[in-house]
Amino acid sequence: MSELIGKKILLGISGGIAAYKCAELTRRLKDQGADVRVVMTKVAKEFITPLTMQAVSGHVVADSLLDPTAEAGMGHIELAKWPDIILLAPATANLIARLRVGLGDELLTTLCLASPAPIAVAPAMNMEMYLAPSTQENISVLASRGMPIWGPGDGMQACGDIGPGRLLEIDELVQCVIKYFTPEKQLLEGVNLTITAGPTQESLDPVRYISNHSSGKMGFSLAEMAQKMGANVTLISGPVNLATPSKVQRVDVCSALEMHQACFDNLSHCDIFIACAAVADYRPAQIETQKMKKQQGIDDLIIKLIKNPDIIADVANAENSPFCVGFAAETQDVERYALDKLKRKNLKLIVANDVAKSGQGFNSEQNALTVFSDTERFDITLADKKAVAQQLLTIIAQQYLQSK
Ligand code: C5P
Repeated sequence: MSELIGKKILLGISGGIAAYKCAELTRRLKDQGADVRVVMTKVAKEFITPLTMQAVSGHVVADSLLDPTAEAGMGHIELAKWPDIILLAPATANLIARLRVGLGDELLTTLCLASPAPIAVAPAMNMEMYLAPSTQENISVLASRGMPIWGPGDGMQACGDIGPGRLLEIDELVQCVIKYFTPEKQLLEGVNLTITAGPTQESLDPVRYISNHSSGKMGFSLAEMAQKMGANVTLISGPVNLATPSKVQRVDVCSALEMHQACFDNLSHCDIFIACAAVADYRPAQIETQKMKKQQGIDDLIIKLIKNPDIIADVANAENSPFCVGFAAETQDVERYALDKLKRKNLKLIVANDVAKSGQGFNSEQNALTVFSDTERFDITLADKKAVAQQLLTIIAQQYLQSK
């Protein structure tokens, strides 16, 4: 009964008949130790009173953007920064549509825009409204942005119709929230996980290098989520501009050779190895000790490159090798190239990423992935890199446990 201790939940209620269940929902979230603040839309107040919600939550209900008294207390920007999660329940078709286009037409939608917190959506509406193509499209767009969609349930509706559109039962909603905060935690408990991330830099001389556009975001998101799922994480990173996730051990390297060495230094206690780094395939055969000068009269400069070691292939073929997961960033024929790499490098899983598609992959905030083992395929649809990381780690953890 204390799964949500210390969790701050902003319950956003929009105007549907299921709003009457929100008093019970608030009580049950508080029973689990959560602190719940309530924001209501104008129409929601026609279905349940702010006084009821104030009494059960223990906080004044926020319902206006332009209320000087409310702004003098916890103002809307402060309120946007407050929660660990925003739970929209019930989320009507109208609220979902406003969320999809990013309207800030009242306090609740403005908070959704202004808040860094994850937003979970519990749809509830008449079944025809739910099945309308526009609502379906709106919901799938929200899901693709990484928003968890909880429900709706199926069954008898307030209007007498029978079908999808009921707010999930209160018990189910509370379980969704609990599960959200303990994402398969036990799955990676005590597992030693090494992740490579970012680009490598291959020096030509003291001031120049060959590199690539990898931001390191995917590897860092994986490190953060793996630690939250209970793993002991070592993050071996090329040069990137990212903060080290909390409780993750970071080893900074520059070149592929340094990354190779760092990976082998950590190999003896590694259970799962995830190679997310965009390692340069080749490095200059020679690093000049002095800055290379422009040569008068020479328009073509030829630099000899030599092959770098394939880090993940070497790790996968080492004695007592860990469970190895590689990435395949491809611009065409993604599945074929990915499966070829899986085999050639002797990997357990390969994570394919179509970097030709705009809005995903290198340097973007979102990603969509397909994971292949030698017998199975798993699709992770376009979402925020952290949400994708969590889904990917769940697949990796399950496959790792099965392989033991
Ligand atoms: O062969 P390709 O570079 O496309 O393979 C990509 C996968 O191999 C990634 O997981 C990447 O981190 C890893 N890799 C590596 N060492 C290299 C090249 C790639 O670990 N030298």
